Amino acid sequence: MRFVELAAKRESCRKYKKMPVEREKLLACVEAARMSPSACNSQPWSFVLADDADLTSKVAETLQEKITGLNSFTDDCGAFVILVEENANLSSKLGGRFKDQEFAQMDIGIAAQSMCLAATDEGLGSCIIGWFHEKALKALLDIPIKKRIRLVIALGYPDSDHPRAKSRKPLETVLHINRW
Ligand SMILES: Cc1cc2nc3c(=O)[nH]c(=O)nc-3n(C[C@H](O)[C@H](O)[C@H](O)COP(=O)(O)O)c2cc1C
Repeated sequence: MRFVELAAKRESCRKYKKMPVEREKLLACVEAARMSPSACNSQPWSFVLADDADLTSKVAETLQEKITGLNSFTDDCGAFVILVEENANLSSKLGGRFKDQEFAQMDIGIAAQSMCLAATDEGLGSCIIGWFHEKALKALLDIPIKKRIRLVIALGYPDSDHPRAKSRKPLETVLHINRW
């Protein structure tokens, strides 16, 4: 499969088969994230993989809003990877300060996308989750209180093999060639 096809195939999966995912496939997804680029090769991340069935149901609770139903699909996910921000190295921190940029958060976003693309390649569904109860999730997984959880990646076997049509801004509204 060409890379552009893989990128088009990846979508936020919100319907999963309630079944476990092989540890080997999950580790392949983490490995793809670990190989991601980062500012000054700072690698400001740790990954917490939750794939134990009792634990994943508790993780799912920390991602959901009962009243609105937000992220309720996570009940059926086979696994989650929690992306925790670590201290960036000095060059990345200084560069970010000078240039007024948040490099560590960009790095984590890139790692998240690498993980999701690897999941697609492994035949898994994935969804990046930015809405979660951070304090509860830290307590559940013994993540030190001072660290920040930036994203959670939901993983599992998709319940459908019919990809949705992509909803994207038209190319001509986002692409400027040779000048703004
Ligand atoms: C930083 C970030 C946070 C997100 N948080 C959530 C979330 O909490 N729940 C959810 O269902 N989708 C979440 N998404 C998925 C987006 O809604 C989705 O990527 C977007 O609608 C485009 O659809 P696609 O991924 O299927 O192409 C998040 C995506 C990103 C990049």
